[in-house]
Amino acid sequence: MEIKLRQYKLRSFKNDDALSIAKYANNKNIWLNLRDGFPHPYTIVDAKDFISKAKVNHPKTFFAISSEDEVIGSIGITIGQDVHIQTAELGYWLAEPFWNRGIITEAVQKIVAYAFENFQIIRISAEPYSSNTASAKVLEKCGFEYEGRLKSSVIKDGKILDQLIYAIIKKMDD
Ligand SMILES: CC(C)(COP(=O)(O)OP(=O)(O)OC[C@H]1O[C@@H](n2cnc3c(N)ncnc32)[C@H](O)[C@@H]1OP(=O)(O)O)[C@@H](O)C(=O)NCCC(=O)NCCS
Repeated sequence: MEIKLRQYKLRSFKNDDALSIAKYANNKNIWLNLRDGFPHPYTIVDAKDFISKAKVNHPKTFFAISSEDEVIGSIGITIGQDVHIQTAELGYWLAEPFWNRGIITEAVQKIVAYAFENFQIIRISAEPYSSNTASAKVLEKCGFEYEGRLKSSVIKDGKILDQLIYAIIKKMDD
């Protein structure tokens, strides 16, 4: 499974990716914007564990963002269960040296199109912390609508934070 971006590609994870994932994911500026399930510090063992689970449990929904020689980030959707079976949650991170070049904006646009085309979902949402201006901006650039603020819904690094809810709904002609 591969989705081409202008300069990079989205592809399935490989065992060899552990080194570059650990190198870039071991970054407090990334961890601060994600859930605590994302380890910090982030070791090669964590990367291997993530890759083996992604390959088995999410082979068609979790992707590496990759150059010719290394993985520089990750993007994926998690499809809900029960009454949320037609909705998916979007998550992503990018290696800090590559920030602010439009890479995640392009990746999100491609993943949204892929997800609506290949799964029975009609809604994709994301919940950045309110301090995460870059992520909110990405979502807005990709056509997600701001739906509201979950006040004091998170404790991260000992601080209480708000989450913002953004979502995009499948158009009838998608
Ligand atoms: C959020 C993240 C994925 C963005 O990736 P990216 O490839 O740098 O994003 P893009 O370059 O496509 O877009 C970022 C936009 O935010 C803007 N931006 C970045 N920091 C900003 C700030 N502090 N204030 C205002 N705008 C900011 C950029 O200028 C850009 O907008 P522009 O294209 O209009 O100039 C990346 O910063 C990251 O991995 N952060 C840590 C993990 C994370 O937050 N994951 C998402 C959790 S919801």
